[in-house]
Amino acid sequence: MSENRAHDVVMDIVEGVRDAIRKNDVTFDEYKMAIGYIMKTAQAGELPLMIDVFFNTTLVENMNKKTKGSPNDLQGPYFLEDVPDVTNGKMKTMPHDNEQPMVLKGTIRDTEGNPVPGAEMWIWSSTPDGKYGGFHDNIPSDYYRGKLKTNDDGTYYVESTMPVPYQIPHAGPTGELMRAIGRHTWRPAHVHYKVRAPGFMEFTTQAYFKDAEWVDNDSCSGNQSREFEIAEVIEDGKRIMDIDFVIQPLPAMATA
Ligand SMILES: [Fe+2]
Repeated sequence: MSENRAHDVVMDIVEGVRDAIRKNDVTFDEYKMAIGYIMKTAQAGELPLMIDVFFNTTLVENMNKKTKGSPNDLQGPYFLEDVPDVTNGKMKTMPHDNEQPMVLKGTIRDTEGNPVPGAEMWIWSSTPDGKYGGFHDNIPSDYYRGKLKTNDDGTYYVESTMPVPYQIPHAGPTGELMRAIGRHTWRPAHVHYKVRAPGFMEFTTQAYFKDAEWVDNDSCSGNQSREFEIAEVIEDGKRIMDIDFVIQPLPAMATA
């Protein structure tokens, strides 16, 4: 590894773009159009969105090469740190025609198979019409999300309602680009998880629903590991998402 990491990364990006220009015989007009597009995307405040759509999953791939724990997945833009404690309880939800109750449960273990009690876990997912609390349609920020602590045996349990597929913001320049290159803007229905525990790497992932729409064709290229595509199990009218996660211990600190 070179001492000048910034130089190495930037020049690799530059060479990648130069290769694309050469390979596609890009004209000066097309080059100016691309610069105009980037400026328009920045003015619309969509640069983070547009960049995440293409590259965020690659950072996740890098993390997953190094972990012995469960595979990470995209965090997405709708995580909130300060949310209600829902340990062994229910998330706040609103009555909805398409409501399907859902149970989220399982065990958090370390890489040796030992349960991890007291781990903090955030779980969040969309409303039955594809919105997020705290972000869309004045849905309060404490709905369809919560934080819990794993029990003494490392287990977790909370109830909510099933999320549905939704489109990433698509009315602006990001949607325009996706349509121009023949791609859609849908994400499969999913549940987000984040786990933090002392002595362990932070773990962020998503779970999906087996055979669900878009699960093979996510606009944001999530679900690369295919590890958490959960088959349909219904108990007492509730969809059961029973998932065990393995979290990775922090690397041992080097001793002087
Ligand atoms: Fe999401």
